[in-house]
Amino acid sequence: MINCRTLSALLAGAAVTSACTIPTTPIPNNIAYPFRAQVQNASRPEVHNLYMNLLEVGGGDRHLFIGPVGTPTYDLTLVDGVINHVPAGVRAVIGGEFSEIDHTTKLFMTGRGDPRAIFQPTYACNPDTDALQIELRFVMWQNQPAGGWICVRPTFDNSYEFRYYPPGNTLVDVNRECIKVTLVVIPTTGLPQSSTTLSTSTISSTSTSTSSSSTSTSSSTSTSTSTSTTSSTSTPTTGPLPFTDLTSSGYRFLGCAPEERWTTDGAFRTLPDAVISSDTMANAFCTSWCTARGYKYAGTEWSRECWCGNAFAPTRQPATTIASLAKCNYKCTGDQSQNCGGDAWLSLYEHCAAGATCNNVVFT
Ligand SMILES: *[C@@H]1O[C@H](CO)[C@@H](O)[C@H](O)[C@H]1NC(C)=O
Repeated sequence: MINCRTLSALLAGAAVTSACTIPTTPIPNNIAYPFRAQVQNASRPEVHNLYMNLLEVGGGDRHLFIGPVGTPTYDLTLVDGVINHVPAGVRAVIGGEFSEIDHTTKLFMTGRGDPRAIFQPTYACNPDTDALQIELRFVMWQNQPAGGWICVRPTFDNSYEFRYYPPGNTLVDVNRECIKVTLVVIPTTGLPQSSTTLSTSTISSTSTSTSSSSTSTSSSTSTSTSTSTTSSTSTPTTGPLPFTDLTSSGYRFLGCAPEERWTTDGAFRTLPDAVISSDTMANAFCTSWCTARGYKYAGTEWSRECWCGNAFAPTRQPATTIASLAKCNYKCTGDQSQNCGGDAWLSLYEHCAAGATCNNVVFT
């Protein structure tokens, strides 16, 4: 029997007002009811109590995030100590993307046979409320020495990715500290608890999509190049405006559109239907990639992301002032001469209808 008052006080460094009682019955390492995985580290409010999101990536894999990236997932289960997402046929494994700086390795979900991340469900007291909760204590990376822990490290778009920190390691990446976290089982009905439906984002591996983007460009060049003039000619500023003119290949620039962080409409992504992140991102890469998947709108963001959709809410309509373009000032990872959105701002393009005049929005 653990004295929970003492435990919580130690963990949170704060006094608690009640004590939860730890059951003495052990918990089997199979949890058949659906749950969400919550991340806790009471001394790190930036990650504390956020939920694990899954992001579909190439080959059926799912990458794991907390923060704005990925899709909230309500139907995880535990099978022999391994976190499973049965609908997607994937389970949590560790492997790949080893970091020389902090010696961490990626935790993600796949249907392949990579060595699993093994957890043991354990009763504990919630560090904030002292309520009884079931934690998933990290046991080991399969076939590796026991120990280590799971941590979350800052990655793109203000989110954190899940990593494995090996036993005995002391290395820290000062620019991207991997914060040690506890995973907690939050039982659900298996259904989203809010009425907001989020589209499943898809992401392709960088290597496969890079080659396909150039081939898909040709299918979209149906508009007349003679009608394309950049809006810079109609403004009093000198030099071109800070966006990439793609009218000659059949895309009009609509402006710099806000993501959810800059709106109060309660919705998630401005273009939620598909996403790719790439070291070779550029605006034409993105428009081609979205067109090849049948989407009308394409937007680059955060230097390296490309988002697609067929519609966006009026609350996400970009402004038409020249000043508004300043928010989309992140250089593209694949072309430093272009801007690819900003911090939760999209450089937004529309695929012009075949045969129609294709002009950029005029910014004044
Ligand atoms: C919170 O994260 C820090 C940094 O990784 C770690 O030292 C600390 O042990 C963590 N606290 C808990 C309760 O996991």
